[in-house]
Amino acid sequence: MTSRIACPTLAARVTTAEQAATHIRPGMTVGMSGFTGAGYPKQVPQALAARIGAAHERGERFGIRMLTGASTAPELDGVLARTGGIDFRLPYQSDPELRERINRGQIDYMDIHLGHVAQYARSGFFGRIDVAVVEVTAILPDGRLVPSTSVGNNATWLELADTVILEVNAEQPAGLEGMHDIHSCAAPPHRAPLPLVEPGQRIGEATLRVDPARVVAVVETRGPDRLSAFAPPDETSQRIAGHLVEFFRHEVARGRLPTNLLPLQSGVGNIANAVLDGLREGGFEQMTAYTEVIQDAMLGLVRDGLITIASATALSLSPDGVADFVKHIDAYRHRIVLRPQEISNHAELIRRLGCIALNGMVEADIYGNVNSTHVAGTRIINGIGGSGDFARNGHLACFLTPSTAKGGAISAIVPMVSHVDHTEHDVSVVVTEQGLADLRGLSPRQRAHAIIEHCAHPDFRPMLQDYVDRAWVHSKALHTPHLLPEALSWHQRFLDTGSMRA
Ligand code: COA
Repeated sequence: MTSRIACPTLAARVTTAEQAATHIRPGMTVGMSGFTGAGYPKQVPQALAARIGAAHERGERFGIRMLTGASTAPELDGVLARTGGIDFRLPYQSDPELRERINRGQIDYMDIHLGHVAQYARSGFFGRIDVAVVEVTAILPDGRLVPSTSVGNNATWLELADTVILEVNAEQPAGLEGMHDIHSCAAPPHRAPLPLVEPGQRIGEATLRVDPARVVAVVETRGPDRLSAFAPPDETSQRIAGHLVEFFRHEVARGRLPTNLLPLQSGVGNIANAVLDGLREGGFEQMTAYTEVIQDAMLGLVRDGLITIASATALSLSPDGVADFVKHIDAYRHRIVLRPQEISNHAELIRRLGCIALNGMVEADIYGNVNSTHVAGTRIINGIGGSGDFARNGHLACFLTPSTAKGGAISAIVPMVSHVDHTEHDVSVVVTEQGLADLRGLSPRQRAHAIIEHCAHPDFRPMLQDYVDRAWVHSKALHTPHLLPEALSWHQRFLDTGSMRA
């Protein structure tokens, strides 16, 4: 029995990854741990990929339906996608190999709100969950599980799966114990109000529970999470942050936000990370965060005491971020709470706390509809993640992007978005390095004016204004004027010529 596996019953189930992977058979639905590159199983998926590869060589069909918390890593999504072993996948993903196969039509991908996954699974919308494969930090003497760097949907997989495989990763810091707060929701009609009224409040237990009788294998591993460095803040992201800081100061001055703002949600990606870093310039203190992912910039704000408490479901740190986290873990344990994603992304709690949602996007249209996921309407990048949970239910839904992409060939402000993730009804503020459009209280035509004037790149502004001027005259109806044959012509031009420029 190793020090990380203190339960004799489960220690007796220790086996190899190869042996554990034999419990996963063709056609099964597997719930894997993992959220934004943290806390995913490191070895069983690779052993499974080898099994699948061998089956394919024998001419046998072998694919699984795979459910996770969010994106994982090359050792999970990457290796299984490459081997052709994933038939179906949900929710958020960001692995290049997986993305490529989804866009080739070889894998069915269902992109759903992260806050919906657990309740849909519990209600049977995805069918039976055959196997759960969950990474943990340690197993306590009584069989309770210390979660690792993400919680995601782990409580749900452990509750629903017929059989369970645990990976105990000795690389995850033992000091994680006590940082988590596990609370599961009942299915309707047995729901009760969630008793959480402050971002740092604890409403559950620090550990996960599993029925030991369903644990068929325990695998000891040692390996780091996917640790990717973030792009350092550049002039563009600093200008986006500057516009937001100015807006928040204005809202505080008008009495519409408290001086420490409201609990912040910050999305994934370089822009969200850089913008959060830019909030340092705002002079705001005693801030809080109720979010999904803690990236480097947020960890820094927690370390420096500007954010007093951060609630999330996962860490997603660079190598430097991890080193800092591990070094100061005893301090962070009092300032960070990691929860299941059905709690971190719960509509009731986001609405109650009044979160300020800060998310990246691909493009917005002149009326404020937002596309967070697809290039030219068909090619998925990552997925909606939790941006919809926070945009719909938050106090302020802010969407951020540079005004152009691909060296200026693409305008992030277009006549009509080529795919809709967030409708005009869910978007309060659009920000680019050019400026900030506050859409609250505006009609569609007023919104178009604000977005073109404040957010569009000067190179594309005349084209947008020309579109609007003509739509104002020629559209059959003038509430949301459009020239339908032209509305998506910018995307078609990009596909035809590599540029949206006329
Ligand atoms: N058209 C085509 N490509 C675009 C684009 C557009 N309008 N806008 C961005 N991109 C491309 C960029 O060129 C870049 O591609 P590359 O990697 O080939 O260079 C990629 O998308 C990422 O863009 P970047 O500017 O680096 O921003 P980011 O890292 O902040 O990511 C999103 C932006 C939209 C991809 C990211 O925020 C996302 O996945 N959002 C959806 C999920 C979400 O909001 N989750 C929040 C809660 S978890």
